Amino acid sequence: MIGPAAPTTLGLMLIRTHMCGHAREGHVGQTVRLNGWVNSYRDHGRLIFIDLRDRSGLTQLVFDPDDGAPAGLMDAADKLRNEDVIAVEGRVRVRVGGENPKLATGRVEVVVTALEVLNKTANPPFLPDDGAELPNEELRLRHRYLDLRRPRMQQALQTRHRVYQVTRRYFDAQGFLEVETPVLYKSTPEGAREFLVPVRNVPGTFYALPQSPQLFKQIMMVGGADRYMQICRCFRDEDPRADRQPEFTQIDLEMSFVRREQVMETMEGFVRELFGQVLGVQVPPMLRMGYREAMERYGIDRPDTRYGLEIQDLSELAARTEFAIFRAALDKGKDRPRFNSKRGVVKALRVPGGAERLTRKITDGYSDLVRGFGAGGVAVVKVLGGEGGPRLDTGVAKFLEPVKAEFLSAVGAEPGDTVLFVADAYAVATKAIGELRQRVARDMGLVPEWGKAWNFLWVVDFPMFEKNKETGKWVAMHHPFTAPRDDQRDLFVRADLQDEVAIESVVSAGYDIVLNGSEIAGGSVRIHDPAVQSKVFQLLGLSAEQAREKFSFLLEALSFGAPPHGGIAFGLDRLVMHLCGTENIRDVIAFPKTQIGQDLMTRAPSQVPEKQLAEVHIKSTWSPPEGQR
Ligand code: AMO
Repeated sequence: MIGPAAPTTLGLMLIRTHMCGHAREGHVGQTVRLNGWVNSYRDHGRLIFIDLRDRSGLTQLVFDPDDGAPAGLMDAADKLRNEDVIAVEGRVRVRVGGENPKLATGRVEVVVTALEVLNKTANPPFLPDDGAELPNEELRLRHRYLDLRRPRMQQALQTRHRVYQVTRRYFDAQGFLEVETPVLYKSTPEGAREFLVPVRNVPGTFYALPQSPQLFKQIMMVGGADRYMQICRCFRDEDPRADRQPEFTQIDLEMSFVRREQVMETMEGFVRELFGQVLGVQVPPMLRMGYREAMERYGIDRPDTRYGLEIQDLSELAARTEFAIFRAALDKGKDRPRFNSKRGVVKALRVPGGAERLTRKITDGYSDLVRGFGAGGVAVVKVLGGEGGPRLDTGVAKFLEPVKAEFLSAVGAEPGDTVLFVADAYAVATKAIGELRQRVARDMGLVPEWGKAWNFLWVVDFPMFEKNKETGKWVAMHHPFTAPRDDQRDLFVRADLQDEVAIESVVSAGYDIVLNGSEIAGGSVRIHDPAVQSKVFQLLGLSAEQAREKFSFLLEALSFGAPPHGGIAFGLDRLVMHLCGTENIRDVIAFPKTQIGQDLMTRAPSQVPEKQLAEVHIKSTWSPPEGQR
């Protein structure tokens, strides 16, 4: 501790008077004590300047031998390095060297009269500075404690904190009860792969970590809780993506004695409150779109409606061309009804101004993209201007020539446009062109910057079931506990389980909230009738015995006076991503996992000693691949 006015007891200066980001002109003349990290160091001959940082921001410190700093203090300041942890005492004065308009504290500085070095730092692998080019993410995740000091990370954590507070306040006011449900849970087929936990006391058995508290919250309704909420951790053993983590957080909600409308109204109110409180954004009444319409117009059940580029079905027109690829596609599932997943279709995307921007190289890339979704490729035609009217050029131009006028008017194409086609079975072509639409929007610069558009949308009327492409088995589109829409219940109860077309047409009472093309919440009215629930299990291929073994607790609970109920879960991490304007989910989680599910800081997951495995009655069958032994 150095300085004439310094308290004599070590650590006394830890009793700070202000946070670094809060110094203002109103404090001029006051003596303050600040704690924090050395953010930057500048030696200007006689004067030493340091920006001191804490969670709230920066304050400029000045060590001035002509204003209260004896030689010992100047020497100590001279030894400070970036990220050293210090406490200072000093006097606030108006900045002598002129204002820094970029800083909230930029009109003032603190002339230091005492300094205590609380901790020196080892040479940091990078500096937690948002201004500089960020080091690679791997390095940042390995040293997350440094990365977390970055102002942007601090901001994300603060936004996240605000989300917790607004959530609790809103749902408390609406009569929701916060309840914790177990993390050590039972293995139940809910969709994704589960993380298993071996059990020492009961050899050969496992807990599973919950993919969501779905069944507990439903059982809370049977238990009379009436309205439940939880900010809970969910675990899914699936490959992480930009907006997906194996361990993530939901705002989980359930309500009794409600129909779809009441749940939707309550949740829309929450979204309005959240975006209003955190960003000051007024969320208008949310539009609603049926699943079928979303798939037809956008090729995806979470459409980004911030830009047009709507998909068109040109099957009828394409059938009148001689293009073999169109014809082969249209021959698929001819006997099936319209919108049936197996029926062939030709879908088109008109890209205004694409003729110049979308080069051959780019459209070849589009073919690669759609192949990844099982389609054969993208057919391309350019519409060019000319004296005799629009001309079709490249790719499928010659096949479209006989129907040119109709084609141009059907897609509304003008000279300078490109039209992209995907032809295949309905499910494949729709998904492929939906993905293509998003890529084209990015390539054409159609996606608005963050903060410019908030397109919220309810997507409703999902099919209850879809066929899994690989196994050919029915799967629940949301989850197996979702009820049929009120008017569809009898249809489902009467449906013959072998009648594919009938099963595919049953509409559920599910709903998702989509924001700018990302699914931020999903939920449904639930089945509260054990007979309907048993029929769903049967359709999903669970024998009566398997259903009993896996879900007896649910079926029993439903049989003991289950009220009608429904709910939803918001992806909290995704909400925070939108509120912070990042596309990387790791930016809004303090300790996230990498793309392969690793925590680079703690090095989890890790191997454990044989003895520990033996205690939980596990023997690993894994051995390192050749060359790594
Ligand atoms: P669902 O599976 O749709 O529904 O999840 C609800 C919301 O959680 C978010 N989400 C994720 N966020 C990050 N990483 C993931 N791996 C991940 N998976 C999902 C999404 C999604 O909309 N029990 C039901 C809810 C209900 O029916 O009430 C459920 O879990 O934003």
